[in-house]
Amino acid sequence: MKFQTVQQQVAGIPFILPELARDIYDFILEKQPRQCLELGFGHGASSCYIAAALEEVGHGHLTAVDLEPAREWQRPAIEDLLARTGLTPRVTVVREPASYTWFLKRMIAERTGNGICRPLYDFCFLDGAKNWTIDSAAFFLMDKLLRAEGWLLFDDLQWTYASKKAEGKQVSDGIALHAMGPDELEEPHIELIFQLLVMQHPAYANFHIKDNWWAWAQKTREGRREPTFEHSPAYRRRLAEWEARTGRRHRPPFEPFQK
Ligand SMILES: C[S@@+](CC[C@H](N)C(=O)[O-])C[C@H]1O[C@@H](n2cnc3c(N)ncnc32)[C@H](O)[C@@H]1O
Repeated sequence: MKFQTVQQQVAGIPFILPELARDIYDFILEKQPRQCLELGFGHGASSCYIAAALEEVGHGHLTAVDLEPAREWQRPAIEDLLARTGLTPRVTVVREPASYTWFLKRMIAERTGNGICRPLYDFCFLDGAKNWTIDSAAFFLMDKLLRAEGWLLFDDLQWTYASKKAEGKQVSDGIALHAMGPDELEEPHIELIFQLLVMQHPAYANFHIKDNWWAWAQKTREGRREPTFEHSPAYRRRLAEWEARTGRRHRPPFEPFQK
C-alpha cells in the first residue's frame, strides 16, 4: 500500500507525527524487516503505516502490543483502522493487563530452549510508557528478542512527566506523578534510556536522532558509535519560533541538565 493511501485512510487519528510516519514507512521499504514489534499502539495509526509498508514490500508481519485497560479510550480502535485499511492480516494485536514487559517475558520464555533465547524480531518500535522503570526493562527484554543487525526505534525522546504535570495531569499511563522527585519529573526518561543504556551497550551502534524526538539504534558490532543528528526543515522552523517566542534555548539531547 502506498504511503499517500494509508495517510489518507488514517488522517486525523493521533498520535504519530507525519515526519515519523514517513521515516518508518521508508525504513521498512529499505530494510524489509520480516518480523516487527510495536510496543504501544494507541489507536493503531503507526501500526497502519508499518503494515502498509510491509504490504508494499510484499512480506512481513507486525505484532502490536498495548494495555487492556486502554481499550476504553482507544476509539477508534486499532482493529477499526486495520479493517478500514484492509491491513488486518499483517498485524497481530495483543492487549496486556499490566504492561508490554510481561508480553516480552512471555515471548522470551516461549523462545527459550536449552537455556538460550532465539531472537525473532528485525525491528522493534517502542512508543509506550516513556518511563525509566518500564522502558529500561523493555530495552533489555527487546534486546533478547532482536536479531543481529536488527533495529530499535524509540519515540518521545525528550518527553517529560513535567509536561503532563503542566497540563494538570496527576497520572500518566497509570504512573502517579506525585510519587516522583523533581529530577524524575523534569528529565526525559527515554533520552536517559537511550544515552545511558542503549548507546553504552556494546552490541549497539549506528545511533541516529531525528528532530530531537525519535532515535534509531542498530544491533551490530560493526557500526559507528558516535550519534548523528538530523533536523527536518519543518522542525528547524518550529524550534526557531519557540526559541524566539520564549527567549529560551532548547537543550539538545545528551547535553547535561541544568542543576
Ligand atoms: C502515544 S501512544 C502510542 C501511539 C502509537 N504508536 C501511534 O504513534 O499511533 C502510547 C501507548 O502506549 C500504551 N502504553 C503505555 N504504557 C504501557 C505499558 N506499560 N504496556 C503496554 N502499553 C503501554 C498506552 O496505552 C498508549 O496507547
